Amino acid sequence: MRLPRELSIGQVADRTGLSISQIRFYEGEGLISPPRDGGGRRRFPRAELRRLSFIRVAQRLGLPLRRIRAALAGIPGGRPPTPSDWERIAEDLHDDLTQRIEELTRLRDRLTGCIGCGCLSMKTCPLYNPDDQKAAEGPGARLVERG
Ligand code: FES
Repeated sequence: MRLPRELSIGQVADRTGLSISQIRFYEGEGLISPPRDGGGRRRFPRAELRRLSFIRVAQRLGLPLRRIRAALAGIPGGRPPTPSDWERIAEDLHDDLTQRIEELTRLRDRLTGCIGCGCLSMKTCPLYNPDDQKAAEGPGARLVERG
């Protein structure tokens, strides 16, 4: 069956496997911007399916929304992504993914001592406070101050 040129939010949810609330959330976060019809209902151009699928995959890879938003910034909503768009995005994300893999590998290698411990000590736990990174900013609580 051929897809219509524009889809309702329910059709998009069926097609992508995303929930309607997830799709609305992505819109609220500025990742998609579906036009509205005369009744105020979202009408998704077919190209938004690829964009939403990309967002879903990128989230599964653990990329933060701000990074996904930046990667998609060069593709105006409604325009189908071209192969060169995807190539550019893949290059942009490659370093982020490599860095994330290295961080997760380091955490995995340090996890052994934490299994069965559960202390999450700010002084000694490598998972809770890796390398005591906040110590360089001075004594006392650091993150609490930012609210
Ligand atoms: S949970 Fe105790 S050292 Fe990490």
